[in-house]
Amino acid sequence: MPLGCRAGSRRSLTMAPQGLLPSRMALRGMLLGLLMVSCFTFCSSHQNSKEFALTNPEKSTTKETERKTKAKEELDTKVLEVFHPTHEWQALQPGQAVPAGSHVRLNLQTGAREVKLQYGDKIQNNLKESKKGKRLDINTNAYTSQDLKSALAKLKKGAEMESSEEDKARQAEVKQLFRPIEELKKDFAELNVVIETDVQIMVRLINKFNSSSSSLEEKIAALFDLEYYVHQMDNAQDLLSFGGLQVVINALNSTEPLVKEYAAFVLGAAFSSNPKVQVEAIEGGALQKLLVILATKQPLATKKKVLFALCSLLRHFPYAQQQFLKLGGLQVLRSLVQEKGTEVLAVRVVTLLYDLITEKMFAEEEAELTRETSPEKLQQYRQVHLLPGLREQGWCAITASLLALPEHDAREKVLQTLGTLLATCQDHYRQDAQLSRTLASLQAEYQALAALELQDGEEEGYFQELLGSINSLLQGLR
Ligand SMILES: *[C@@H]1O[C@H](CO)[C@@H](O)[C@H](O)[C@H]1NC(C)=O
Ligand SMILES: *[C@@H]1O[C@H](CO)[C@@H](O)[C@H](O)[C@H]1NC(C)=O
Repeated sequence: MPLGCRAGSRRSLTMAPQGLLPSRMALRGMLLGLLMVSCFTFCSSHQNSKEFALTNPEKSTTKETERKTKAKEELDTKVLEVFHPTHEWQALQPGQAVPAGSHVRLNLQTGAREVKLQYGDKIQNNLKESKKGKRLDINTNAYTSQDLKSALAKLKKGAEMESSEEDKARQAEVKQLFRPIEELKKDFAELNVVIETDVQIMVRLINKFNSSSSSLEEKIAALFDLEYYVHQMDNAQDLLSFGGLQVVINALNSTEPLVKEYAAFVLGAAFSSNPKVQVEAIEGGALQKLLVILATKQPLATKKKVLFALCSLLRHFPYAQQQFLKLGGLQVLRSLVQEKGTEVLAVRVVTLLYDLITEKMFAEEEAELTRETSPEKLQQYRQVHLLPGLREQGWCAITASLLALPEHDAREKVLQTLGTLLATCQDHYRQDAQLSRTLASLQAEYQALAALELQDGEEEGYFQELLGSINSLLQGLR
């Protein structure tokens, strides 16, 4: 998942810079409703998938790898019900057999058994690759690889047998090779393999991270694995309840940039749409620590993840937004945007500001639509004096200058933000000759691209939308 902390679809909420017509407001109200429903669906579907993971980190030697390869080749020639694992988790059907060396995890709630290919030991050294959606497995201390080896030994027995026999004989042979998962489970039970709950896993990971005897690599690996668990709302709340959240927040103080980076990675996931955790994080000093990191010299990768965590902490949490403004958050973000070589961060910062501005507008509109006169949330939002702060601190000029970025996607974000800032920054934008020139040249560029889209029969194309934003901005600036 990319490191934005945006909840909705990228393009569904494009702002029109002019005043809001009533019908447009109603439409946006509907959009907001849809957004909330989809977010709710998303969150609750996550809650249902609470897993009890049993991962078998069986070590593979070269010899075993050879055998596995051989077994796999043989497998390809058989017609027996044998499961073919891929690099994704796949549910196992009843009666299917699992090749040795696969990762097997049991979802004890649904009873579903899931299998995928294992990656072997190189994972540990391959954090970068694992980041692309793959999971990093930490060796559990619950059982040793030796235990697993003997548990799985029978699975491998006969791997070297000849395959030029009668079909029936071959089937028996394969049955010996690949036994049903039920038997495998029984073996695990006999070995007293402990099936850990998510909470137990998180406690173990926090202990690993918090232990002074863990190496830096082990600590990073523990954080990396923890991030996977805290995506689930109730897991993140459990992390909070046993004190793990504070350990991760304190990790932001580490002198090690990688520890800061991965602590922020975990926090960003834990805060996301999780009010209970967001509140505790504010109490636990997370906001100050995140801002300190952004305000000091740090590797870009660290700042990226910290910005992500900041974004997750601020979104849908007006109290945190108030604190952010009080602590000088806008100045910190301004320095960040003005640093050299941080264009990536600049776009993310602008997107965050856009999200915060529109979030407050939505709260106002929602209150109006539901005819609630003073809902508490709205009162909270009314304490967030974001627009005046942006104006005072030079954000009118900063946002205007960012329109010079070459990527369409970056321009899209900047255009959206300029639109929402139009009322606040109108006088500045009108006097900004460079902005007029940029807008005129972008208008010409997107007219041409939009025409091509129309030629291709695309009625509501991306470039037409960008052109629309530019046109309404120009109109608003007249
Ligand atoms: C982390 O370690 C510190 C000091 O070693 C200890 O005081 C604290 O209780 C530990 N926290 C957790 C949650 O294990
Ligand atoms: C973490 O750092 C901040 C400032 O960088 C400092 O004020 C705070 O006392 C530190 N906290 C811990 C737990 O070391």
